Amino acid sequence: ITARLTIDPYFTVGPVNPRLFGSFVEHLGRCVYDGIYEPGHPTADSEGFRRDVIELVKELGVTTIRYPGGNFVSGFRWEDSVGPRAERPRRLDLAWHSTETNEVGLHEFSSWLEKVGSELMLAVNLGTRGTLEALDLLEYANVPSGTALSDRRVANGRTDAFGIRMWCLGNEMDGPWQLGHRSADDYGKLASQTAKAMRQLDPSVELVVCGSSGAQMPTFGEWERVVLSHTYEDVDYISCHAYYQEKNGDLDSFLASAVDMDRFIESVIATADHVKAVTRSEKTINISFDEWNIWYLDRYHDVDKIEGIENWPVAPRLLEDSYTVADAVVFGSLLISLLKHADRVTSASLAQLVNVIAPIMTEPGGPAWRQTTFFPFALTSRLAKGCTLEVRLTGDTYATEQFGEVNLVDAVATHDDASGTTAVFLVNRSQTEDATVTIDLTALGSVSVVDAQTLADADIQARNTLDDPERVGLRPNPSVVAGDHTLTVTLPPVSWTALSLA
Ligand code: AHR
Repeated sequence: ITARLTIDPYFTVGPVNPRLFGSFVEHLGRCVYDGIYEPGHPTADSEGFRRDVIELVKELGVTTIRYPGGNFVSGFRWEDSVGPRAERPRRLDLAWHSTETNEVGLHEFSSWLEKVGSELMLAVNLGTRGTLEALDLLEYANVPSGTALSDRRVANGRTDAFGIRMWCLGNEMDGPWQLGHRSADDYGKLASQTAKAMRQLDPSVELVVCGSSGAQMPTFGEWERVVLSHTYEDVDYISCHAYYQEKNGDLDSFLASAVDMDRFIESVIATADHVKAVTRSEKTINISFDEWNIWYLDRYHDVDKIEGIENWPVAPRLLEDSYTVADAVVFGSLLISLLKHADRVTSASLAQLVNVIAPIMTEPGGPAWRQTTFFPFALTSRLAKGCTLEVRLTGDTYATEQFGEVNLVDAVATHDDASGTTAVFLVNRSQTEDATVTIDLTALGSVSVVDAQTLADADIQARNTLDDPERVGLRPNPSVVAGDHTLTVTLPPVSWTALSLA
């Protein structure tokens, strides 16, 4: 297999927004409780947060973190989660058939974010609540003081406003599973009204309106058109959500999942730009890809097992997927897809962060470890700086059942003028053959390869587990050969690689 690409710092697609490397913490399963927060754990700090998890989140390089849901947010009353802990109510979480203790709320989570160095992206409940409650939360969070709700925040121990910029107007409102699910028209009107009111209170907020829960939704495309027709001038982003898994043993198609992500993004851009044309708008709506990942469980699979009106567990084990090398390679290719669209995808959140379909796993009282997907995320977040470049890739292809003829190698590059560094991210989707990739560096002038790291394994089902937490990791790729204005690199079958040039 061969492929060829060109790196030219003038072929820019768009700046890489650091918010592309966001993640998502939902009150779901063991993401918060027994995940980031475990007061009895040997590494717990004075606030009950696990220090080992904090270190891993920092290493992962997560920028913005979406919170507190997800489906959870559509039944959530934010007031429950602030004020003296002893007075916080225990509530039913209908989305995940669990009990929410409200031990961790806005103040605690915000304090945890300071420890990990990430920005908060907060979702308001537009499922079972509306504009007034969204305004109340915004007043509580962002008004310095002198009003009932801002003074309540001060009384609750937080003198400075939280100053939250990014807000999601509900979650997956197109999904019949969502509490308060509604039609595109009904949601569009509510989202527009809420967005206008929120901006009246705080013009500096950046607002994300709900797009489809996935390109497979029957309303996909039309949902975006109708919702944006109502909200185009009121919001900044429309969301995309996508989860991928190997289906029916069709690994060839699974390895090409990023083709679906590319098409999804391009369809949403086309739809948003259509509304722009129709409304003669001057502004451009960008994408917040605020849920993406590999997810093996059918929706609500584990949750269906929790039954009975008397049975509402606290922090049950839900959606605890264990990821293989193949999963991590697909995952890395999804990051390539996001980067390729950096001009329009300016925010994204890996769903989720700890224990729940997560790159970081924990055991109560025990260790925390990196899943296979941790590695492509951490390295991409660290290396992808400056602008995405158009690499004009050509090469061999293969036939897939789901996506037709697809490139065996996919790649993207980023270049940072300020530091003079370039990064190239590559994936080889072949199950059997090495791929030799030639990279034309003429336009870069003289550069050398600082590092080449590959994720691959003779056993593509290998994973990191509690018993064997370091089975899979990145390895230096010794195959790089620098030529006259070119370099070649060999990518093993089913592999993801990052090259760092300077
Ligand atoms: O990330 C898990 C769930 O997936 C989220 O709660 C929901 O928004 C989506 O369906």
